[in-house]
Amino acid sequence: MKILITGSNGMLGHDLIDVLKNKHELVLTTSKTLDITDKNGVIEFIVDAHPDIVINSAAYTDVDGCESNPELAYSVNGEGVKNLAMACKEVNCPLVHISTDYIFNGENDRPWIEDDDIGPISVYGKSKLKGEEYIQEILDEYYIVRTAWLYGVNGRNFPKTMLELAKNHSEITVVYDEVGTPTYTRDLAYGIGQLIESEAYGIYHLTNSGSCSWCEFARYIFEVADVNVNVVPVTAKEFARPAPRPHYSVLENRNWAENGFVPLRSYKEAIKEYIELIK
Ligand SMILES: NC(=O)c1ccc[n+]([C@@H]2O[C@H](COP(=O)([O-])OP(=O)(O)OC[C@H]3O[C@@H](n4cnc5c(N)ncnc54)[C@H](OP(=O)(O)O)[C@@H]3O)[C@@H](O)[C@H]2O)c1
Repeated sequence: MKILITGSNGMLGHDLIDVLKNKHELVLTTSKTLDITDKNGVIEFIVDAHPDIVINSAAYTDVDGCESNPELAYSVNGEGVKNLAMACKEVNCPLVHISTDYIFNGENDRPWIEDDDIGPISVYGKSKLKGEEYIQEILDEYYIVRTAWLYGVNGRNFPKTMLELAKNHSEITVVYDEVGTPTYTRDLAYGIGQLIESEAYGIYHLTNSGSCSWCEFARYIFEVADVNVNVVPVTAKEFARPAPRPHYSVLENRNWAENGFVPLRSYKEAIKEYIELIK
């Protein structure tokens, strides 16, 4: 397949390239070569490249930054996605779009399924939801892949931050009342690679298996990396950040399983492999 990837120099973009390059022809774009907010540019580029499928891994992903810069958030995560959907319609190709657990409000006592009511509580979540809505309005053939708590080799992320902090702190405070599923971008990229060959369009939750709080995750990272740090649990309220986050955003990968795909491995296995790779 000829696959056009946006945001290809991002954290997920990097692993998508690695996982897909041997099997497919890739057209790689970055914010410099294809700014998804440029409507005419997007349509011209995609009509010219004429891909079999587009994977959108471009987004404005700074969750706190979105609160102070909502125009940029809606422009990239909403209008940018609309532009891509319109271009895909023009060349009659499906769009794979990456969305987020932050479209849910976090008030739940069981993992969220694809059909659950959405209710984002941050600008980031609201802008990502806009993107989902545009796709559903414009296209019939799409994969909306909601994932969570990503980390990978090519980007800033929670495990890297923890290991960096541990170099000069003996004690680190970490939030314990936000629960989700850390997900390795490489595993997600493999999942997307399977999905695009299925033609089973729709909305998918796709994360590694299992769940934990940030605090539990930090403790596990230090255990695996064999680093001696005292992790002090704090509430999200105590650890004030500009954007509110859902308290519980575990995603049940229900459509994934119902379509016969094998669940992604546990987050504990994935983070072990990742730490081995970066240390
Ligand atoms: N990170 C997470 O924890 C997480 C969790 C759930 C879902 N997601 C979703 O997963 C996807 C991938 O996330 P990620 O962590 O890999 O993101 P990332 O590392 O921040 O990469 C995003 C990419 O988007 C590009 N980009 C930004 N604005 C653009 C524009 N106007 N036009 C074209 N490209 C633009 C950036 O390019 P420049 O660097 O050149 O600006 C960057 O390469 C995103 O859709 C994100 O919302 C992420």
